[in-house]
Amino acid sequence: MVAAVQEELRKIAVQPNGRVPRHVAIIMDGNGRWAKERGLPRSEGHRQGTENLRRIFECAVEIGIEILTIYAFSTENWSRPPGEVQMLLRILETVIDRELTTLHKNGVQLRHIGRLEGIGSRLQRKIRQAMEMTRDNHRLIVNIAFNYGGRDEIVNAVQRIVREGIPADEVNEALLSHYMYTSDLPDPDLIIRTSGELRVSNFLIWQGAYAEYYATSTYWPDFDETELHKAVAEYGRRKRRYGKTDEQIE
Ligand code: IPE
Ligand code: IPE
Ligand code: MG
Repeated sequence: MVAAVQEELRKIAVQPNGRVPRHVAIIMDGNGRWAKERGLPRSEGHRQGTENLRRIFECAVEIGIEILTIYAFSTENWSRPPGEVQMLLRILETVIDRELTTLHKNGVQLRHIGRLEGIGSRLQRKIRQAMEMTRDNHRLIVNIAFNYGGRDEIVNAVQRIVREGIPADEVNEALLSHYMYTSDLPDPDLIIRTSGELRVSNFLIWQGAYAEYYATSTYWPDFDETELHKAVAEYGRRKRRYGKTDEQIE
């Protein structure tokens, strides 16, 4: 009981109005520049960026975030040099190999969003196994957006709707949402982008229609617990009007 009260107070301290985003999505950008500034290879930036996830997962749980969606590899990232693409694919495999047991023990439910096709069959199998193993965990849902593109997701949804012969007048926003990768999850409340870029880069373009956006110039490997608290606190100060007036929401 005392612990629960303390936890509540801590949350309020973080968030002036106590509002915690249920679903936070992160565009983890700036690994390459982080490495370059240190005279290191890009691979080192990706390695540090991956390491960073550990503390962010824990901090997300502490704050009370329920769902974390992380952008790890976009459908556009296939255009990078083959060596870098291979490295990024390998990183996901290594994370599953090395971290799955710990993540499972820590109550993380791992999910994948994006196209599995295009990813090698061994990695596909590992992704499926990781999802299967952690499916009943509820401490934190982590969606890994890998080979993910928002437009690709919408095209995929429309293809399935057409294939299933759903009549045009039954197609509405709720139906489309149901055909998205995140069908059973609430839309992201807060979308964070690191590294100073102010663009969406094809991330959650359907689900993010009313998300609060937050950008920081910090490169992803340096985005620590304090940075996450800052983003969440900023979210707490935002007014989500959904088209209404201030008077209507007060
Ligand atoms: C983000 O870092 C990781 C991925 C896109 C996979 P970048 O690799 O994009 O880093 P910058 O933008 O070149 O600094
Ligand atoms: C977005 O970052 C994709 C991921 C973080 C996985 P990029 O670095 O690929 O985005 P652009 O190309 O600069 O927009
Ligand atoms: Mg980038």
